[in-house]
Amino acid sequence: MNETKNISEVKDEYTRFDSAKKFISDHLIPENKSPNDATDYIRARIAKQYQIKDTEMKKLLTNHYRVSLNTLAKLKMEEAKANKQKTINESKKATPRIVPKGIVNDKVTDFEKYTYPSYYSVKDGKLLKTIEVTDPFTKEIETIDKDISLTPFVLCKRTQPGIDKKPYYTIRYPISRFSLEQGEFTVLNSDFSDLNIMHKTLAAHGINIPAEQRKDVNEYITKFIYELGHLLKVEPLIERNGWNEDNSVFAMGKKGITADKIIPVTTLVKGSKHCDSLMQKGTLKEWISTVEPVMEYDLSRYMFYDSMTAPLLKLLHHENIVTCHSGESSRGKTLLAWIASSTMGDPKELQCKADSTANAVLAHVVGFNDMPVDIEEVTVAKTLEIMPSVIYTLSNGIDKGRCTIDGTLRDDIKSFRTSARITTENPLSDYVKNVGGLVRNREQCELLPKDEKLAIIAKAAKRNIQGNYGFFYPLYIQHIMKNIDRLETLYNNAYKMLNDIAIESVPKESISIVCRQTDSYALDIVAGILTEEVFQEIGMPTKSKEEIENIVLDNYMRMVLDKPVDLPYMKALKEISAWIASTQEFVKNGEKNFSRDIAGEVTDTEIRIIGKAFTEKMKSVGLSSSVREDFKVQGLTKNTNERITVNGNSIKGFKINRKVMDEKLGLNVKGDKKFNTDICCNEILETIKFMTSKLDKEVVEPYILKVVLGYEVTEHLKKLEKEGKVKKTESGYYI
Ligand SMILES: Nc1ncnc2c1ncn2[C@@H]1O[C@H](COP(=O)(O)OP(=O)(O)OP(=O)(O)O)[C@@H](O)[C@H]1O
Ligand SMILES: [Mg+2]
Repeated sequence: MNETKNISEVKDEYTRFDSAKKFISDHLIPENKSPNDATDYIRARIAKQYQIKDTEMKKLLTNHYRVSLNTLAKLKMEEAKANKQKTINESKKATPRIVPKGIVNDKVTDFEKYTYPSYYSVKDGKLLKTIEVTDPFTKEIETIDKDISLTPFVLCKRTQPGIDKKPYYTIRYPISRFSLEQGEFTVLNSDFSDLNIMHKTLAAHGINIPAEQRKDVNEYITKFIYELGHLLKVEPLIERNGWNEDNSVFAMGKKGITADKIIPVTTLVKGSKHCDSLMQKGTLKEWISTVEPVMEYDLSRYMFYDSMTAPLLKLLHHENIVTCHSGESSRGKTLLAWIASSTMGDPKELQCKADSTANAVLAHVVGFNDMPVDIEEVTVAKTLEIMPSVIYTLSNGIDKGRCTIDGTLRDDIKSFRTSARITTENPLSDYVKNVGGLVRNREQCELLPKDEKLAIIAKAAKRNIQGNYGFFYPLYIQHIMKNIDRLETLYNNAYKMLNDIAIESVPKESISIVCRQTDSYALDIVAGILTEEVFQEIGMPTKSKEEIENIVLDNYMRMVLDKPVDLPYMKALKEISAWIASTQEFVKNGEKNFSRDIAGEVTDTEIRIIGKAFTEKMKSVGLSSSVREDFKVQGLTKNTNERITVNGNSIKGFKINRKVMDEKLGLNVKGDKKFNTDICCNEILETIKFMTSKLDKEVVEPYILKVVLGYEVTEHLKKLEKEGKVKKTESGYYI
């Protein structure tokens, strides 16, 4: 129906030749056509224009205008020749191109305004390429816009390539069709060469590319690099937060801190936590007035210095620091951690809630290399579950490859530096049985005073620092950069001061373990000195060097000197003592024992332990069975491995000298004093004290006392109870 109607319309129109002439003159004829072809061509054009069948048109033309059209066609061919050049130019007009100069693709709101390689443009929210196509029918060359990507995107930055450095490009794209917000991500140049990787990477950011267009997109990117790559802004490449190789740049998210300015960097660190939370908000002035009243307290000062050791670890070649801050609820523990975090960015965002797995906590920490981290206990049960592993890994700074950390840790980076703070209700030594872990972990059990004034200050401060953050840390880093030559001396002086005090006050056998701890407190002093210098610069009340040293020294005495960590062999002895006392696994003095799990035999002079059982036991308490070597050095055993007799059977194991063991544990050496009540009472008191304080037993059952001491204790206990020296519960005695 349509066609019939069209033909009649055309008939009307083409009865007037002028009108046909006009139509034809608007359509140039390719110059290489014969007159007959030219006629056919014109006929086809008219047919196409009016959507009528070619046969119908042929009839129409043949009947009326064949001759005239032939003449006209010839004329048009001449004209076409002359116009050839013009035609080409006009087709190019579709992509007007000004050769760009200077830096291209700084951020603008409208994607149409970015600079694209020749023939590419953005229209109606799509990335297009203008191409020339030949109409298969008319053989005419036309320019059309082909969709390349349904989401526009541009290359906007690159990194400087070097001999060992691969070039990275940053792609900018609209985060959604309905938003003006633009996202960016960085890709390795070579990732473009694999169509699959390229497509996946782009699609992961919501860039919508039909599968069949992958090649076109690849060509677009290649052209972009070829034509405009040299005009893109060049930024230093940052693979992770923290110090770069030569300590000239310290990366904090998208900021690069150098000694005298803050520069933008291209970061491979992804994710809002590790990148976007390291921002500034509010003012430095507000931050100062918020934290000032809290920072008056020595504890606040110390905890702040402790966090500020993080960027010094690399420079002073120090292992990671893990400090646990424990104590009752609502005493400002989180507040103090937030104050440290607020030097870098949003404290709430920067905190890591230990609520999932050890790997999740580590993933968080790894992303904040060279920065302090705040790990907050969520429940005691969770802490018990994940903290031992977290602390072990944190203190070693090595991700042992157990966790796959998406986006935050590249395959080739396995170590990380941090000063971590864990806030919990109970001291961490309750959770961590491993001595190695304990040595490196520091317990802060001091709390801010509990008072009304502080309650108000704490509440206000917690609220206010959420609106004012991100100022101190960059200044502090710059201050470190400017004072890098002083660090070693500051450290050595601080270490010497602490070490001299330690040597005076610690028994020889523990000194090596204490020394291992001393260096982290020396670092606290260095951080304290640098911190106070920045405080002075920004107009905060400051502490003198002596005051700083005293603050750290107080904590060093409390956290280290007053409670030296047990040497592994001492810890093992205590475990053995508790093992014998609290289980039926040891045969007593040749008595027959029908327990299924026999671990050894106890005689008046020695403890015989089966090797296999010992290894299992040590494993269960986080100790190495190689402490047997230490036993030998300490004179506790002659052979670390020999045949022993247990329950009448010969088996592999070793013997501990009871006398030496009791001396080491500080227990009285037993002589023939069974009937001396005073000696017995004293011994009972000491044993109860030892078991309740050192072995964490709440009460000691009488039968255990009997086994440990080797004599009847009931009468003595009654006497002691009467004298009020011990107290009795249903299950046992305590002091
Ligand atoms: N020293 C203090 N004296 C009295 N109240 C305080 C003190 N410190 C903090 N608070 C109150 O407790 C609230 C919580 O503070 P914060 O989160 O720092 O405590 P916390 O010690 O981390 O407690 P939790 O163990 O429950 O996490 C504050 O908003 C404030 O009201
Ligand atoms: Mg808290």
